[in-house]
Amino acid sequence: MSNPEWLKNAVFYEIYPQSFCDSNGDGIGDFPGMTSKLDYVKSLGCNAIWLNPCFESPFQDAGYDISNYYKVAPRYGTNEDLKHYIDEAHARGIRVVLDLVAGHTSIECDWFKQSCKVERNKYSDYYIWTKGWDRASTNYRTINGYSDRSGNFLINFFYCQPELTYGFYAVEDPEWQLPMDHPEVMKVREELRNIMKFYLDMGCDGFRVDMAASLIRGEKQYEGLKILWHDYRTWMNENYPEAVLISEWSIPEKSINAGFNVDFLVHFGLPGYTSLFRQEPERVPNSPYAGQGKRSFFDRDGKGDAELFVNEVLDQLDKMQGKGYMSIPTGNHDFGRIRQGRTLEELKVVYTAIFTFPGVPFLYYGDEIGMDYVYGLKSKEGGYNRTGARTPMLWDDTEKAGFSTADEKDFYLPLGEKSSRVSVASQEKDPNSLLNFTRRLIAIRRKYAALGGEGEFHPLFVRKNTYPMIFERKLGNERFVVAVNPSAQPVKGEFGVPGMENAKLMISCGKINLICSSGASVIEADGISAAVYRVVND
Ligand code: GLC
Ligand code: CA
Repeated sequence: MSNPEWLKNAVFYEIYPQSFCDSNGDGIGDFPGMTSKLDYVKSLGCNAIWLNPCFESPFQDAGYDISNYYKVAPRYGTNEDLKHYIDEAHARGIRVVLDLVAGHTSIECDWFKQSCKVERNKYSDYYIWTKGWDRASTNYRTINGYSDRSGNFLINFFYCQPELTYGFYAVEDPEWQLPMDHPEVMKVREELRNIMKFYLDMGCDGFRVDMAASLIRGEKQYEGLKILWHDYRTWMNENYPEAVLISEWSIPEKSINAGFNVDFLVHFGLPGYTSLFRQEPERVPNSPYAGQGKRSFFDRDGKGDAELFVNEVLDQLDKMQGKGYMSIPTGNHDFGRIRQGRTLEELKVVYTAIFTFPGVPFLYYGDEIGMDYVYGLKSKEGGYNRTGARTPMLWDDTEKAGFSTADEKDFYLPLGEKSSRVSVASQEKDPNSLLNFTRRLIAIRRKYAALGGEGEFHPLFVRKNTYPMIFERKLGNERFVVAVNPSAQPVKGEFGVPGMENAKLMISCGKINLICSSGASVIEADGISAAVYRVVND
């Protein structure tokens, strides 16, 4: 199955709707606010947006608990506002991908309320109910005692997120498990297709699928997931060939071979992403890695390792067989901020790698200015330790940061200490700011196909517990050589690339030198430095 052309040089921007821009002074971001910032997104060079869920919800999990799939949450606006947003984005050459919470609804969803009834009805089998109310009868996570209907319902994440039924590939207990092709189960499959159709017809460009690997349970689960997602992908290819399916799965070889176009490498699934960016040093408050002596490769202490990650990427690329793309994002709404424990200069080194890595990059809102995690916040809408990475976008240096006119106490979340704030307005003015550096990186990424989805990836200098990391992206006669030294120490790396003596420096930060002699090239990199070179071999 082919991928739409536009994915090849796509750079996504992830927006958390409640925290981006508030237009009506209620302290919560909304569609008119997001629409007013489309020119900003365009100025970054991003040509696609992923919006976190924006549908009707009791917000026990920040909107990942949907009560009505066909209606925009009133706090963000109306369905017309969403359509207008998509149209305005398209007018600027920006695609819009929505979040598809496919595996579970909110406990407040009318389907679930109907399903709880003793009397059989259309929704009785929309969810997975066990036989009887004894929880010990199954190892699946269930809730009992919730309804008069006898039986317990399976949950997907929080207690308030009952699992929709897509059937069991291999039924273990026929007393309550239904096979994937059961007519009642097929109703749910069609309902999800209907939801997709509703928004694709509105103009959206595809979906980021929440917990994509959770839809089928039991033995041979993966066999079932392949059937299910291939069905949706085939249907989309036929009817909406420009639309994409992006999975929250974090094992690209599995997700891409199950029919997805893109899969994130993040903090779960495979270990590479974490080893590169997310093993925070002790200087980061509440680091989950405190005391374990683990370090990210991207850390000034220089005690990390890039080899694990690079080998993982090579292995995954091999197994994906060019059928889709991986995504190595700057962050997302589910864990810390990449800024934690890093300076803005250090982030330039991180982003030089992220925006030249293979696949489809995603920029989490605020990361382009280095917004920090806000410590000490009370959990909001099921955020728990994710809450500090979901705070309002810092647009300017005024009291309310240009986010909203509401009283700060009514903001969706506080802005954080003044002393640690950054802003778009101040960085706009500085040509060397992280914001402007990120813009230049994205522009280079989008201009050259070798850096995009089709470009090959080859390590040039990647060694266990050694800095710098040097790699190549290549397509046809064009190559890019990328060198990054996130450590505070000066380091050297040697490699061989034909024509390197004619290389052109495209962008750099810190002090970094390229020395070429016959056959071999050496990069001499000061602490905290990075560079991208372009080589054309005629
Ligand atoms: C995904 C979302 C996360 C949510 C969970 C349950 O991991 O990214 O925010 O809480 O699924 O829907
Ligand atoms: Ca608002």
